[in-house]
Amino acid sequence: MDGISPSDFAQAVCELADYFPVGIALVDESGDVLFATPMAENIFKETKMGAEEVVKWCVAKPAQTIKSSPQRYYRCWSRKLSPVPGAKDRYLLVFSDVSAEHNLMNLLKTAKEEAEQALAVMLPDLRLAARLQSIVEYTDEYDPRTGKIRITGIISQGVYRHVINILKLIADTFNQGLMELPGMEKNSLVAAAIFHDLAKVQPVLKPGDVVNPREVFEPGHLHAFRSAALAEGIYRLSPDVVLLIKYHHHSEEELPPEFPPHLLPMYRFFRLIDGLSAAITRRGARVKITVEATKVHVAENNPVPAYNRNLTMDLYTGQAIAQPLGP
Ligand SMILES: [Fe+2]
Ligand SMILES: [Fe+2]
Repeated sequence: MDGISPSDFAQAVCELADYFPVGIALVDESGDVLFATPMAENIFKETKMGAEEVVKWCVAKPAQTIKSSPQRYYRCWSRKLSPVPGAKDRYLLVFSDVSAEHNLMNLLKTAKEEAEQALAVMLPDLRLAARLQSIVEYTDEYDPRTGKIRITGIISQGVYRHVINILKLIADTFNQGLMELPGMEKNSLVAAAIFHDLAKVQPVLKPGDVVNPREVFEPGHLHAFRSAALAEGIYRLSPDVVLLIKYHHHSEEELPPEFPPHLLPMYRFFRLIDGLSAAITRRGARVKITVEATKVHVAENNPVPAYNRNLTMDLYTGQAIAQPLGP
């Protein structure tokens, strides 16, 4: 700052703060405010902590959100300035107003909770919700050299979240008119979604465990058969729904000859959204699904790009075409 006078610099900072929604303050270690733009002054006044406490808080935790007057939130950043011999330590504080972003996140959280409550009400039996919520899922990393996976996290209520994500995909495609296609039945798909993994049993693992998935996780068709038995024997679901549940881990080539052809479009669609929901739930994938007559287009974006895929499936013919990845 050679050649710039401190008062010129302070004036420039004040003018900048008029144009950009930031608060800037210079404080010392004892909490005395040496300089503050109007927004920073307001923040010191509006929080119940008092200026001295705000200063200590910002200095102790350099990047986090502080709440001032009702519904106002500020992100705070602090930096210790070079010490001046014989003077107290001084800190530069910068506040940016993140109220809009923070309030939107709260709204989304409330909407999500309401949607999940709506699902819980839809479930025919409270024991179903408790059972689904009790089954964890795991996040993992696959090592292609050894064929083993390393557990990286535990998703509490994993199967419950997986079911919710399938229901969202059904709702999305319902809104696009898919259930008007002969052979597609919304109620059957919803019932299959709720019951299909009900009898899944997961091994007890912890982050850091390295395991061979084929040895530790039981083959999917076992829980599919158990879930179908519960759906049929206890909940008296229709034969079509029971078949969708029973064969949701079978590939089309593995289906028994007696599998009814009229169920194939729903079977294909259910297996597709089961896999997409697993990607959303376990890998944090973002999925865009578009319906066009008998075809469903899927664009799947994953945090790990190797899992990305674009796919078009014709629900009537079963033909699936993987397309080159978009930009
Ligand atoms: Fe399953
Ligand atoms: Fe599933």
